[in-house]
Amino acid sequence: MKSPLALVARKVRNFAGNLRRLGLRETLRLYRYRLGEYYRDWRLGIRTTGLLYPDATEADPDYQPYEAAHYRCLHQAMRYFDPHPERDVLLDYGCGLGRAVVVGALYPFRKVIGVELSAELSQAARQNVRRAAPRLRCSAVEIVTADAAEYQVPPEVNCVFLFNPFTGPVLRAVLVRLHHSWQQHPRKLRLVYLYPSHEPNLLEECHWLEAERELGTFDWEGVRMIAYASREPARLDTAAAEPQNNRWSVSPP
Ligand SMILES: C[S@@+](CC[C@H](N)C(=O)[O-])C[C@H]1O[C@@H](n2cnc3c(N)ncnc32)[C@H](O)[C@@H]1O
Repeated sequence: MKSPLALVARKVRNFAGNLRRLGLRETLRLYRYRLGEYYRDWRLGIRTTGLLYPDATEADPDYQPYEAAHYRCLHQAMRYFDPHPERDVLLDYGCGLGRAVVVGALYPFRKVIGVELSAELSQAARQNVRRAAPRLRCSAVEIVTADAAEYQVPPEVNCVFLFNPFTGPVLRAVLVRLHHSWQQHPRKLRLVYLYPSHEPNLLEECHWLEAERELGTFDWEGVRMIAYASREPARLDTAAAEPQNNRWSVSPP
């Protein structure tokens, strides 16, 4: 356990380092952003800040570490979903400490599900959900500890949120599962993809999805957030809908 003095000294060193690296204006902007995030966590009684690498994940090149989505981006995504309490079920892939799940549950979804690979993070997410419970409009919240590539999409899920949780084969497997779920249970499926950091953006390869609109990301400059929706009408003969040159790593269940 570090002494308060050592913590203050570390904060001062970090501030000085940022000042040297970014200059005064950008440093102040960064700290204003961080303070805003801490404040919003505090209002909800949760802890979701930080950049975390859970155990045994650093060796995996497709693994993206935990970092929470900007609160303002999350509210923007939830406003896009505009949930109806009897209809809409949100799934957050790679929910980490559960910020997107908690923000989602501030809106009247029928249910909110978070799927997280790390047992350590999902346990902390459950604790955050419990802490925020008095403020939540959606009381059906579930955190599942699972590899997203293996997780079978429940048929009631119709809103999906992804904040850069994984790339490569895991993302491909997830898209296959979503496609399969949509084929088995035709419905309007909407996805918000925040920070498609890798090229190519695999969602653009999904012929069954179309980009609906770009959502604003406020002071996360240069970061994109794209809303996709399944095409109408649901095409059950999907042979032509799969990319021809893909190398999907799993077969649909
Ligand atoms: C960038 S964070 C997103 C956090 C959260 N969605 C939010 O918006 O606050 C990415 C998360 O995806 C999780 N993750 C990475 N690979 C995963 C996998 N194969 N299955 C489930 N979760 C995974 C990481 O542990 C991390 O918590």
